[in-house]
Amino acid sequence: MSFIEARGVEFYYSPEEDKVIKGLDLKIEKGSYVAILGHNGCGKSTLAKLLCGIYEPTEGQILVDGMDTANENLSFDIRKKCGMVFQNPDNQLVASIVEEDVAFAPENLGYPREEIRRRVDEALKTVDMTDYAKHATHKLSGGQKQRIAIAGVLAMSPECIVFDEATAMLDPTGRKEIVAAMKRLNKEIGITVVTITHYMNEAVEADRIVVMNEGEIIADGTPKEIFSKVEELKAVSLAVPQVTELLYQLEQDGFELPRGVLHAMDAADVIDAFIGGQK
Ligand SMILES: Nc1ncnc2c1ncn2[C@@H]1O[C@H](COP(=O)(O)OP(=O)(O)OP(=O)(O)O)[C@@H](O)[C@H]1O
Ligand SMILES: [Mg+2]
Repeated sequence: MSFIEARGVEFYYSPEEDKVIKGLDLKIEKGSYVAILGHNGCGKSTLAKLLCGIYEPTEGQILVDGMDTANENLSFDIRKKCGMVFQNPDNQLVASIVEEDVAFAPENLGYPREEIRRRVDEALKTVDMTDYAKHATHKLSGGQKQRIAIAGVLAMSPECIVFDEATAMLDPTGRKEIVAAMKRLNKEIGITVVTITHYMNEAVEADRIVVMNEGEIIADGTPKEIFSKVEELKAVSLAVPQVTELLYQLEQDGFELPRGVLHAMDAADVIDAFIGGQK
């Protein structure tokens, strides 16, 4: 069974308004790294909260590790299994000192002191912030604050973390730090990562991309498969990575180049091979 399974999920915020999620089916495997793309307002954040059990489907069902998110008796266990990191780093930190902030959740869960210490140390190490344990949270950079927010979630030993545009408010350095942290969590610790982003270069890092439009999933595949569908993405106001766009434009100008090239070095090889073929 998949780690998260959404079956025929529908959701509205109010019965008078249109449905925000419309009959959505999605399976997320344990240990996978999935990016969710979609135009503004298409329902990504709503879906993220549904997947973590923060919202309950209006229709249909969501299972997290086999537990139904509609079952209130399980909501605590579901929250522990699937944590969320949000967009604004300043809204997520609750304590003025880094290690106290990371300790907040395990303290609330009532773990013994030594266990809290162990979890805080391990979480800070994972996000490479050990040296900042005693620092004031308000003095950190945006990227460092987000890493502390991630550590706070890690301290609950989650199996999955959903990042809702966690890099959107960061500078390029901060964005790189967070993407590196996501990759490490996924590849080295085996945490299931679901990331919502408007940055195509970040989506390329995932193993799978799910594209949403108006509350539905309209495409699902590897980054190479998804970014080969340039016209389909443009039709729902989405871009492709710059490198992919460059080759697409050349293709439009009549050059026969392959689709779904995602990295600059691969583009260089493709262009090299093309020029070689012309000689
Ligand atoms: N708390 C709420 N109450 C009522 N309607 C809401 C609420 N949150 C979101 N909506 C509406 O639901 C729809 C989907 O919103 P959602 O935030 O899930 O989209 P999104 O894809 O995350 O957008 P963005 O890219 O701007 O973050 C939008 O029409 C939005 O206005
Ligand atoms: Mg959103």
